[in-house]
Amino acid sequence: MTAPVVTTTALATTHSVSYSVRADGVAVISLASPFEQDNRLDRQVVAELLGVLGRLETDSSCLGAVLISARKDFMLGTQLASLKTIKFASEAELFSRDITSAFRRLGTLSKPVVAAVHGAALGSGFELALACRAIVAVNNDATTFGFPEVCVGLLPGAHGLLRVAERAGLGAALDLGLSGKPVSSARAMVLGLVDEICPLSVLLDVASRWARQFAFGIAPDPVRRLPSWEDAQSFLFESNPIGRRLLLARARGESHLKTHGHYPAPERIVDVLERYMKRGIDAAGELEAKFFGELVVSETAHHLIALFYAAEAQHADSGVDVADGTVEAHPVEHVAVLGGGVMGSGIAYVTTASGIPVRLKERDDAGVGRALSYVKRLFDERVACHELTWMQRDRAFSLLSATSGLTGLGGADVVIEAVFEDLSLKQALLREFESLTKPTAIFASNTSSIPIGRIAEAARRPEQVVGMHYFSPVQRTELLEVVRAEKTAPHVVATVVALGKRQGKTVIVVKDSVGFYTSRILAPYLNEAVQLLSEGITVEAIDKALVDWGWAVGPFQLVDELGLDLVAHVAEMVHGAFGERLIPPDAMVRLIGDDRKGRKNSRGFYSYGYPSTPERRVDTTVYRSLEVEPHGRLPQEEIQMRCGLQLVNEALHAFGDGILRSAREGDLGAVLGLGFPRFRGGPFRYVDTLGAEEVLRRVQGYCDRLGRRWSPAPVLVDMAKKGRRFHV
Ligand code: NAI
Repeated sequence: MTAPVVTTTALATTHSVSYSVRADGVAVISLASPFEQDNRLDRQVVAELLGVLGRLETDSSCLGAVLISARKDFMLGTQLASLKTIKFASEAELFSRDITSAFRRLGTLSKPVVAAVHGAALGSGFELALACRAIVAVNNDATTFGFPEVCVGLLPGAHGLLRVAERAGLGAALDLGLSGKPVSSARAMVLGLVDEICPLSVLLDVASRWARQFAFGIAPDPVRRLPSWEDAQSFLFESNPIGRRLLLARARGESHLKTHGHYPAPERIVDVLERYMKRGIDAAGELEAKFFGELVVSETAHHLIALFYAAEAQHADSGVDVADGTVEAHPVEHVAVLGGGVMGSGIAYVTTASGIPVRLKERDDAGVGRALSYVKRLFDERVACHELTWMQRDRAFSLLSATSGLTGLGGADVVIEAVFEDLSLKQALLREFESLTKPTAIFASNTSSIPIGRIAEAARRPEQVVGMHYFSPVQRTELLEVVRAEKTAPHVVATVVALGKRQGKTVIVVKDSVGFYTSRILAPYLNEAVQLLSEGITVEAIDKALVDWGWAVGPFQLVDELGLDLVAHVAEMVHGAFGERLIPPDAMVRLIGDDRKGRKNSRGFYSYGYPSTPERRVDTTVYRSLEVEPHGRLPQEEIQMRCGLQLVNEALHAFGDGILRSAREGDLGAVLGLGFPRFRGGPFRYVDTLGAEEVLRRVQGYCDRLGRRWSPAPVLVDMAKKGRRFHV
């Protein structure tokens, strides 16, 4: 950014918006939150922005302005904390209207304002940029545009989505609004949302040129490009009312399939865009403000916002509760992954995608080939959906190499094993790698159930052994559960927590114990589902009840994906450790005896191997294996409570046993690792919502009726007695 600034008059040091004028007569409106690292929108910023725009209008020394950020990112959205305090929908609606009219002023001012974007422009940041006369953006990976509002139960306000529809069409607006995923500046340019992309060094100059050209009434040249297949498709759909109706109906159908009606925001987004298509931007804006108000005060948004803050808090957490800051993560420059199956390949993928070189070891050349092509496929998928360019893919993929021997593995700072779930195999590899790697190397196990302390019994340096429990599919599941064994050194925990964050994970840290936290609480949930099946409730009825409760998939579909052998193995282990409460039903043993391993051997609760049909078909021979007559006669709520409360009660047992550091981590672990309904906020938030007393009444009722596998957690009894909550 080269042109000198001649006057710099920040309004005051505690202000977020400052104003200065360059030698070429273009004002620079700079955003820099004085209290936080990131720019976020709140009432104060809006008021300051309006003040600066007033000044711009009357300042005869300048022709127009560039709006830019003095922080790493342009703006990361609205200050959610300020929304949390809003009690009434009308208040939130007014907030939305005020922002909309402030942003509208940007586009209607007598002097042009051009957005110069580097870093992320998300939510209201994107809306702010769209309200300017043009957007100039940096052509690097860090510069992105998106509407993540839907992820916290809200819809994009301030006409942002409507301006996207105006500039890039209905399809693009639906995609951006409903997915919540950001797009790169290059992609935004292709969509017609960004007017020019350039290197960071000339961003201010290029944006100033746009502002001057507008001021002189010279329409800047539109960037021309060849029409793409996407352009042809959107022309076909969007140029006529039938095509537009089809697009809206498809979006509505797809989002209902995902949300089952539990998340109102996606439906509202489609409603607003439908109104825009029929009646234009002003009428749609009215609906947008009304819905925004309703959504802000909804319980769903409150729970989703709480989860957002919980994840933010984890991102700032070192994983080690040492107040003096003496424990530091060690640098990780090379990672070795042992085992290239589903999990090992996924771990290799997320590690190379984060820019860290990986050496993967498999048993033989066939295993090496399988692992490499699996990782390659994951990168290719990202290129296909425009998340990566082919150059970025090649750069990341070149960080991966593999061997069936031992070469190239000695330099690893962290070795992550993901071989078969077999204690002696894991211990043998640990011994081998302690001799092969440098003395500081960390050995992390991805075991889903074996206590890390047991694996570490074979170690010469048990303080360098830790658990890194990833979830399947690794590339899509946000959670990493780090397991701290009794002897694990604090710097080892800090190092793998930092590594997990680089891999894009939200990391929780739990105490070592059988099943850790996540596998332990999943076991009674799945046990109860199998128990219900053995009582004659159909697979469909159980899966449907839990999906209707908000799980992404039902318990039997989940078991088929995980493998019944692995599920039964974990169930046995937690039963051995925690006794009668976690006893697996007899039916589980029968199913294993019937060689039902799920999708992997095409023998599970559902049928596999047939030509795929839209409807998943239950393998009805499962009832014969269990000698039950399926009837499906049980109220849906009873099925939901029996499975759901088993998980919740066990989470509270684990909390009482000191497995978790906080209820916050317990909620994140269940939601991000297992798929506990996100809109319910997690098991601990669920207890708070229902009230500990009510949860205890239900659990105790089942205990009296169904036996000791329902023993209420002592923490629950205590909280009910004292009328306490987990979260303030
Ligand atoms: P998998 O059976 O797909 O892969 C295991 C891989 O390890 C195979 O490709 C095998 O060839 C390789 N292997 C075995 N011995 C080896 C050796 N000595 N050297 C190098 N490679 C060797 O199993 P998956 O599902 O990937 O699980 C791996 C680990 O991750 C297990 O401990 C499992 O409990 C754990 N886990 C699995 C989850 C899942 O959902 N599948 C979830 C979380 C953890």
